[in-house]
Amino acid sequence: MRLKLNGITIYITESYEEMSKKTASIVLAQVTIKPNSILGLATGGTPIGLYKEMVYGYKSNGVDFSQVKTFNLDEYFPIKKDNEQSYAYYMNEKLFNHINISSENIHIPNGENVNTKEECESYNEQIYSCGGIDLQVLGIGNNGHIGFNEPDVSFEARTHLVNLDQETIEANARFFESEEEVPRQAISMGIGNIMHSRKILLIASGKSKANIISKTLFGDISPNVPASILQLHNDVTVVLDQEAAEEILQREELQEYIR
Ligand code: F6R
Repeated sequence: MRLKLNGITIYITESYEEMSKKTASIVLAQVTIKPNSILGLATGGTPIGLYKEMVYGYKSNGVDFSQVKTFNLDEYFPIKKDNEQSYAYYMNEKLFNHINISSENIHIPNGENVNTKEECESYNEQIYSCGGIDLQVLGIGNNGHIGFNEPDVSFEARTHLVNLDQETIEANARFFESEEEVPRQAISMGIGNIMHSRKILLIASGKSKANIISKTLFGDISPNVPASILQLHNDVTVVLDQEAAEEILQREELQEYIR
């Protein structure tokens, strides 16, 4: 199902697999149309299927990533790149080791650089000097965070050092041996960087995201729900599975489109 509301296009798919395929078709089309695209990428559980489909696009359909540049949204701080829980490790495992991207075209905040101020400024500069992000992939936290921009966010912020919310630490503990091992800080692109992307692709899967997706797309635009600022972006595509769409499908505003 496809709905178009206030400049936001929403696709509701049957399953996680279908959501991943749909999202990959958008990313792969971007790379095919503009081979030197600048992609903004996310980590976490949600985009794993997307990355699998992108690898399939490269291996089976010859999609060429040789000129693509990528910027990841965030990285834990402090963390070593070879730590299996680092986002650098995740990206290599899930995507970069399996496609023909050049290592010099990959950008992820460096969680090993103790001079976080310098790291953040240099990350902003690199995004700027590449001409900005063409397509930014986003997941969403249960608290509405995008990147690691937690509630009470500044909508203007660029890449910065973030203190993770307790809710985020608990949600991400599933990837670590214990909650104590989850780093308490991260380097994250700010909402300012995200909003400057030419196109945004937000993906969400599962019941636990249904409420925050409804607040993000239909609630007030508020720093308490960082993702709600996306209502003001002029090119947002949202791809949901059935469970993540559960609450928006109940909304009055949508009934005329659904019937
Ligand atoms: C990760 C990121 C986060 C995640 C969000 C959802 O790079 O930017 O905003 O997208 O925490 O995570 P999952 O997909 O694990 O539910």
